[in-house]
Amino acid sequence: GKERTLGMIKPDGVSGNYAEEIKRIIVEAGFSIVKERLTQLDKETASEFYEEHSLRSFFPDLVSYMTSGPVLVMVLEKRDAVTDWRGLIGPTDAQKAKISHPHSIRAFCGKDSQRNCVHGSDSRSSAEREIKFFFKDVVSDDIASQH
Ligand code: CMP
Repeated sequence: GKERTLGMIKPDGVSGNYAEEIKRIIVEAGFSIVKERLTQLDKETASEFYEEHSLRSFFPDLVSYMTSGPVLVMVLEKRDAVTDWRGLIGPTDAQKAKISHPHSIRAFCGKDSQRNCVHGSDSRSSAEREIKFFFKDVVSDDIASQH
């Protein structure tokens, strides 16, 4: 059946005017954009979203990057959405993506291992948490769509 994941266009993607082209790529790849929201993260919200990385050396830089401008969060739906969206965005390090995954979204608009333009949930459980994090009002839809 269909599955949902969280997609995000990060501040560099939004400010670089990549959002419309990324959404075109998403739809072309067979995803439905079920919900979307443009939002400005504050430090507390960005820290909570990335709490699993809170002990990493790059965490303070990650939080300031993620709060540097608005992000576009999206609920993406298709069969195997979690795996397929991770495949479409490519590896975390956009410099590596340009070599190993030249057709990926990060190769297209990412800069390096931090400013990598887009985010994708890394598992079904992350997807459930991250969708709830940004779209508290669609929880019952999310559960229904898993069956
Ligand atoms: P994302 O897929 O959203 O998950 C965690 C984010 O932390 C990642 O994308 C990057 O923006 C950032 N990140 C991961 N690894 C590094 C790193 N080695 N140096 C700087 N930023 C990183």
